[in-house]
Amino acid sequence: MTHELTAPRLASASSKTTESVGWWRDAVIYQVYVRSFADSDGDGVGDLRGVRSRLPHLARLGVDAVWLTPFYVSPQADGGYDVADYRTVDPLFGDLSDADELVRAAHALGLRVIVDVVPNHTSDRHPWFREALAEPPGGPARARYHFRPGRGPGGMLPPNDWESVFGGPAWTRAAGGEWYLHLFAPQQPDLNWEHPEVAEEFASVLRFWLDLGVDGFRVDVAHGMVKAPGLPDIGRGAQATLIGTEPLPFFDQDGVHDIHRSWRRLLDEYGGDRIGVAEAWAPTSERLALYVRPDELHQAFNFRFLTCPWDPALMRTVIDESLAATAAVGATTTWVLSNHDVVRHVTRYGGGAQGLARARAAALLMLALPGSAYVYQGEELGLPEVADLPAEVRQDPAFLRTAGQDGLRDGCRIPLPWSGQEPPYGFGPAGTWLPQPRDWAGLSVAAQTGDPHSTLELYRAALELRRALPGLGSPDAGPLVWQPSPEGVLLFTRPGFACTLNGRGTVVELPSPGRPVLSSAPVETDGRSVRLPQDSCTWWAL
Ligand code: NOJ
Repeated sequence: MTHELTAPRLASASSKTTESVGWWRDAVIYQVYVRSFADSDGDGVGDLRGVRSRLPHLARLGVDAVWLTPFYVSPQADGGYDVADYRTVDPLFGDLSDADELVRAAHALGLRVIVDVVPNHTSDRHPWFREALAEPPGGPARARYHFRPGRGPGGMLPPNDWESVFGGPAWTRAAGGEWYLHLFAPQQPDLNWEHPEVAEEFASVLRFWLDLGVDGFRVDVAHGMVKAPGLPDIGRGAQATLIGTEPLPFFDQDGVHDIHRSWRRLLDEYGGDRIGVAEAWAPTSERLALYVRPDELHQAFNFRFLTCPWDPALMRTVIDESLAATAAVGATTTWVLSNHDVVRHVTRYGGGAQGLARARAAALLMLALPGSAYVYQGEELGLPEVADLPAEVRQDPAFLRTAGQDGLRDGCRIPLPWSGQEPPYGFGPAGTWLPQPRDWAGLSVAAQTGDPHSTLELYRAALELRRALPGLGSPDAGPLVWQPSPEGVLLFTRPGFACTLNGRGTVVELPSPGRPVLSSAPVETDGRSVRLPQDSCTWWAL
């Protein structure tokens, strides 16, 4: 027989968020990419009022918290990751009272709110950088950034061979002949964290948002604020391809941990449940775990899980190494499959029906693992990457600086479809800043609601079950134990719970591990044996 799998309805989708100490250890946190979530005023760009209007979707989905991408004053050279004023909301997104009301409304629904902080660099329009540019070489305001004389005749060459993550040299020449460092776009000059005013300023910025009531920060480029002494050459090109796999003099320097320790002390002053999550790229799981030592940040995105291809054996290795590395420092692992910087996982896993099947299975796998999980807006709808955007609508500086490299970041930032038959699919009163595909009507929240086969209902059921079964998610419920399984299949148990992943392209028959409670594709079982569909994940109650 084919099991119709239903999840029990729970009284409150957000009851868990009222627990205090350690809430983040198994929290499901939803990433809102503000400019693409919901638009309240018809300018085609999502905004804070738009987010507030759609909070009921998140409460019903059953997440514990929301992470909002930057909404601060910015020229938007990099989607707001170029901040010109850290304490003011960009008029594009609303104003401070909108931020305040959004935090209150979220809290009223039992949702915590995490905001982005961007400490590695400012915008080139930040008052500090304007001041620096107005000074002659060697001026004191330049000391807040990394200004250096060039090399070669007349200082015509950059001070070292570092490359921007977005392509091209990491240095731009300023008036007066000095060069300044920007690991990202030229509009994002890197701050010099050895300058005392930098640390003071960011402590004050953190307090500003904590006082407004936010529950924590996602720390942008948390691995980048400290550079190797002397800014040494690397000696090879294509440096962006080395990030997260090899040591680099501009990333993951030991000195960044002093900053995170000081921020942890500051967060703890606010009562112990305000958190910091590191966007950190480190060459190994062990190096990454250093960011979540007991006196540092609370979470660090597990990008090794995100970048792992659809290969159960490799996935198992990443899971084991991640759990071991974080356990060694007493922290939990923070799983993630997609975000606003990477190709959506439906497409990474092959696209089409196969990519969607794998993405649904990967979501159940992720949500079954001990620890916290991040859900990127739209993954609960099974959205694919939009790959065929015309060059003239693209806005990602990474695209613009690399002469049209494929697979970069606009295609995962398409405004969400909420309802209706044609663009803007309920995103807002009119238009969208990036064009939505004309065939997304069936992917909207409204279209998927109530359809038991939809990806949205799968996520809703999964998050309900995660609250009901302690063996799911909670790192404290007991160990994850791998059980024998055929090649291409993963089977693990936790107290009262089992999870199977069939990563093969064919049906696999197994002795039934228990009672199926949720599956990414229909399973057939006679109670003794089970036929696992290809590219599927199933949850079992024991
Ligand atoms: C990581 C952010 O997620 C990305 O969007 C941004 O471009 C870089 N950091 C630079 O701030």
